[in-house]
Amino acid sequence: MCGIIGFTGNTEAAPLLLDGLEKLEYRGYDSAGIAVIENEGINIIKSEGKIKNLREKIAKSHTPKGFIGIGHTRWATHGKPSDENAHPHYSKSRRFAVVHNGIIENFAELKEELVAKGYIFHSETDTEVVAHLLDDCYDGDFFSTVITMTKRLVGSYALGIVCKDVPDKIICVKKANPLIVAVSDKGNFIASDITAVLAYTRDVYTMQDDEVAILSEKSVEFFNLDGEPINKEIEKVTWNVDAASKGGYEHFMIKEIKEQPEAIRATLSPRITPEGKINLDGISLSDEQIRKFKRIYITACGSAYHVGVVGKYVIEQLARIPVEVDLASEFRYRYPLVDEDTLVILISQSGTTADTLEALREAKRRGARTLSIVNVVGSAIATESDDVLYTWAGPEISVATTKAYSTQLSLIYLIAIKFALATKAITDSVADELIAEILTLPEKIEQIFELEESIKRISERYTYLHHAYFIGRNLDYAVALEASLKLKEISYIHSEAYAAGELKHGTISLIEPGTSVIALCCTERLVEKTISNAKEVMARGAEVLCVTTEDNRSCANICDYTIYIPKTHPLLMPSLEVVPLQLLGYYTAKSRKCDIDQPRNLAKSVTVE
Ligand code: F6R
Repeated sequence: MCGIIGFTGNTEAAPLLLDGLEKLEYRGYDSAGIAVIENEGINIIKSEGKIKNLREKIAKSHTPKGFIGIGHTRWATHGKPSDENAHPHYSKSRRFAVVHNGIIENFAELKEELVAKGYIFHSETDTEVVAHLLDDCYDGDFFSTVITMTKRLVGSYALGIVCKDVPDKIICVKKANPLIVAVSDKGNFIASDITAVLAYTRDVYTMQDDEVAILSEKSVEFFNLDGEPINKEIEKVTWNVDAASKGGYEHFMIKEIKEQPEAIRATLSPRITPEGKINLDGISLSDEQIRKFKRIYITACGSAYHVGVVGKYVIEQLARIPVEVDLASEFRYRYPLVDEDTLVILISQSGTTADTLEALREAKRRGARTLSIVNVVGSAIATESDDVLYTWAGPEISVATTKAYSTQLSLIYLIAIKFALATKAITDSVADELIAEILTLPEKIEQIFELEESIKRISERYTYLHHAYFIGRNLDYAVALEASLKLKEISYIHSEAYAAGELKHGTISLIEPGTSVIALCCTERLVEKTISNAKEVMARGAEVLCVTTEDNRSCANICDYTIYIPKTHPLLMPSLEVVPLQLLGYYTAKSRKCDIDQPRNLAKSVTVE
């Protein structure tokens, strides 16, 4: 997803902008550019591809000298990745330059109007409309021009704007797209997320929709769209630079896999009292309110949706409340049957995923109570939900999620137990046992890390693989969905997950000698059934890797390879089972020399639908 950085201060802007853009690389992008005000004009340099292309281009011309500028990493929406479509964009007069995250929904009609007035467009982007519109609205005053222009826009935007007539100020404005303002002794920044500025400061303001900020070297002022000043509180970011860098690992993904025990501990510890009782800080629901819910919906995208699939099994089994899981992109358009007797749980690492945010709004419009599980504090989904539980996973940089998934799972367990106690579907002693077992998960995950070398060796067999099938039943199936996504998104191997019982209904016809099947056999009461399916595919030539618990030693005699993991309560097995499969995906992608942290075509935060 696109990234924004901007700086005005007492030191040259270009190096800071390039550095900030590199910090934003993890969001996924296909072109990058910077605009710096120098010699009373705006100098824009931009390039398709990685930031190193941009650096090379700058090195071949010259590094713009100036103390104020904006920069952008673009992930194509309107128009292909190209130098022309990269941001920043000039206005016709070159008085303004603009960077933009989001989508201007009325760009076609604005463009038609501007073209009729003689504006010439050099790109296919919706953003260029903003640049020319600034010229069109220009009244001699930078601030009031931005306000007039913004009022013409429909859609979502985080905009960073510079004006050559005011060579010490950046103006930014936002709607439905994240933007922060950060202050430091070098000067002041705008950024789409804090990672871009963490090396310089931890003091940030989070901008809300329809707020405008004016930044100069020594001051930051905020206004509403009526031009009235607003007071905002500065926030101290506790994430340190180290937490946002690779910490000695080759990739963020492996670093984040290894951070899972700590992230789970951090997520659990404020929610479990020293007496072993659940205390869900972010939920204001009384037991009586919980008992009134006739149904729970869980809605999310991608891996967060896969957490929801686990949630359905766990919450239904423990609390005996019916749970439906839906992809947020489907939920939002299907006139969902939710009302005031429904709880809608939204799950999102970034808290900005467009479909999940809209699903939340749809649920609220229909009167449902909403609860979100989010990693990014102050993000839109967190802010707009009735209740929010934060996963304290820290920043997740790798595009493929691991520690966010695991911390989301741990919160699902706590919600399930809390609700089960409220509905009296379980006794205190069952809850106590489950909680005690949940607390052992981090240590058991650490034990699984000891299998890393053997998983690495198995992954070498997958280097030239074309197709993989993950099978399992019940919670094993829920984990198969995630394991399959992990493998395919980073290694580009075609992979699918099937409920093992479904194989015979069609998919088994794809099995031929050399096909790889990964059989998940951790749901104790169903292991024998999945093993039968494993035998069926082996009889048709498939090579089978089995993931099971330490006590199922017989699997080794049946399957080609077996990964044995520690045991826990059956409902908590997903937390352990997913870890070797994350490692399998990682090492397979590594042996195929893939761009692990930034897989092609993917973005970390998907803020457009
Ligand atoms: C896959 C992955 C994605 C995200 C999905 C939702 O590894 O990370 O599938 O889970 O894009 O993102 P969030 O959780 O930010 O809403």
